Amino acid sequence: IAEARRLAAGAATLQDLAAAVAAFEGCPLRGMGATQSVFGRGNPNASVLIIGEGPGGDEDRMGQPFVGKAGQLLDRMLAAAGLTDKVFITNTVFWRPPGNRTPSPQEQSVCAPFVERAFALLQPKAVLLLGAASAKSVLQAEEGIMKLRGNWKEWRLAEGAVSAPVMPTLHPAFLLRQPQAKRQVWSDLLSLAVCLETDSVE
Ligand code: URA
Repeated sequence: IAEARRLAAGAATLQDLAAAVAAFEGCPLRGMGATQSVFGRGNPNASVLIIGEGPGGDEDRMGQPFVGKAGQLLDRMLAAAGLTDKVFITNTVFWRPPGNRTPSPQEQSVCAPFVERAFALLQPKAVLLLGAASAKSVLQAEEGIMKLRGNWKEWRLAEGAVSAPVMPTLHPAFLLRQPQAKRQVWSDLLSLAVCLETDSVE
């Protein structure tokens, strides 16, 4: 983690940070079959940081987060909420876990300095967490995602005085299996859109 912190701290832009992630050899997922690192995509001046779980097969192939079926659903929902140009999208880990299993808390904490640096560089107005593994990793929350979703929390970094309201919601891959849960995510996205509006009126 010291090495991740050192590399992350040296990045002055999100582009630097992507290069720092690619150069980082300390994540055990690297040696488990991932073909490349997957860092982020979207607006480098985004007002919303979106954090998913980890890359899947399509992401591993393309080197970009959320480019598979779940990502396409996410993009459609972001577009419908008018958020497309306002987001930067990343994950809690940057290498595909074998068999698309959930990343372990240890794998997530090894990668966390890069996620935190992305947050510090972007200083977004709001953060959207996709799924239980993302919510657990960022908020260290005990409750399940069904309890957490829809409720604003605060994410504050120990160093650097960076903080932002955080909205946990359901993962788009879950919505592919449970389409009726889209209404909850839709409501969370509207909350997010309102949060952005409220901020800019002040
Ligand atoms: N699921 C995730 O959590 N992240 C991705 O990048 C793709 C699918």
